[in-house]
Amino acid sequence: MEGVEKKKINIEMPEGKLGVLIPGLGAVATTFIAGIFLIRKGLGKPIGSLTQMGTIRLGRRDQKRFPLIKDVVPLADLNDLVFGAWDIFEDNAYEVAKKAGVLSYQDIEPVKKELEEIKPMKAVFDRSYVKKLDGPNKKVAKTKYELAQMLIKDIEDFKKKNKVSRAVTIWCASTEAYRKPTKVHSNIKNFEYGLKNNSKDIAPSQIYAYASLMAGVPFINGSPNMACDIKAIEELATERHLPIAGKDFKTGQTLMKTILAPGLKARLLGLDGWFSTNILGNRDGEVLDDPSSFKSKEVSKLSVLNTILQPDLYPELYGDFTHKVRIEYYPPRGDNKEGWDNIDIFGWLGYPMQIKINFLCRDSILAAPIVLDLVLFVDLAQRARMAGIQEWLSFYFKSPQVKKGLYPEHDLFIQQMKLKNTLRYMIGEDLITHLGWDYYKAEYERD
Ligand SMILES: NC(=O)c1ccc[n+]([C@@H]2O[C@H](COP(=O)([O-])OP(=O)(O)OC[C@H]3O[C@@H](n4cnc5c(N)ncnc54)[C@H](O)[C@@H]3O)[C@@H](O)[C@H]2O)c1
Repeated sequence: MEGVEKKKINIEMPEGKLGVLIPGLGAVATTFIAGIFLIRKGLGKPIGSLTQMGTIRLGRRDQKRFPLIKDVVPLADLNDLVFGAWDIFEDNAYEVAKKAGVLSYQDIEPVKKELEEIKPMKAVFDRSYVKKLDGPNKKVAKTKYELAQMLIKDIEDFKKKNKVSRAVTIWCASTEAYRKPTKVHSNIKNFEYGLKNNSKDIAPSQIYAYASLMAGVPFINGSPNMACDIKAIEELATERHLPIAGKDFKTGQTLMKTILAPGLKARLLGLDGWFSTNILGNRDGEVLDDPSSFKSKEVSKLSVLNTILQPDLYPELYGDFTHKVRIEYYPPRGDNKEGWDNIDIFGWLGYPMQIKINFLCRDSILAAPIVLDLVLFVDLAQRARMAGIQEWLSFYFKSPQVKKGLYPEHDLFIQQMKLKNTLRYMIGEDLITHLGWDYYKAEYERD
């Protein structure tokens, strides 16, 4: 492709076992882990996972090369994954999966033994960040720095015990309260000073991110709170040559938004308002019932439409729309969330129209394949020595983390193209522009 150097990145092969370390052994984590065990036994299919089911076009269209991504990109094998977790509750993964109520009894029982072996390590927890929860399985230390050292030890012990050659940490714990970054987050020196002096501005998720990188393990943030998207952690990731990625798994209503909004914009249909509401009855919903945790989610959800619709470029179409997002904790629904969207749009000569979406989704069923893909792609990035922010994984996030000065790309289809072109670039294949001029050259360039 013009202007882009074709290059093959040197990628270490995925030899040996890959540790998957998960702060937060809840509904998402156990749905993911049980799913991997079931898939390994041939009792389930990895539906929704790009790394397992997705293909990638290579070369010109007339060459008809559409291999599976996993056949041309050196990804870890599902049989090589080993799981570890931290949680404030002592329940093992089997007990959690049963209580979460996402998977049926018939699906959990065949992998009971494997799930029972996953017992959570003691968590780093601070009630001021998750007001609605508390549990007994917590680390106690004088300073946050000591807590970080305890996590580093956990990671080292896990690696030794399970004989893994590499690991990846993925935060699947509860959403922490919304906070703005302060001086303590501005660089690694201030951050370490804050850890040693118990700065109240340092959240548990940030301690896990720090410990993970210090232990030589990349970090991914699946929830909307600030974890690896602070300057100190970005600096540490670059310094230690490790990938980081975040934040907030893109499932459910936001996934639908990033599918639909690019379509409205592509056809230049205007928007007057978008009202989204949800009912949700799992523990995540309970945590989000607290306004400070909901604020983290709201900020993450609201940013999506503005960046897709670009009101600055299209003031007549998107300069003045109302966007509201609500989440209601409603226990009878458990993990089976229901979302309603009312979208007021306008077309030719300003005539109004409405779109209604009623999405009866299963949150953790949508999140599990995202966890898998992120773990495998971030492991790929670490073997390719791609340090720092992995913007090419924006496809999976509600609030993609990007380098300072860039705006995040929210359009699912641009994100998908970016991801696949990154894979092509890494394996030394031509990038795909969808121009196709060559096929029509004779007709287009006649004198
Ligand atoms: N399910 C989805 O579609 C989806 C989408 C985007 C983001 N998320 C985020 O993923 C996270 C997990 O969701 P879930 O449905 O599994 O929630 P969950 O409540 O079932 O599980 C979270 C677990 O984290 C534990 N926890 C809380 N603080 C902890 C800490 N400091 N250290 C260790 N463990 C801790 C809790 O005890 C709980 O077991 C949430 O933050 C949620 O907002 C989920």
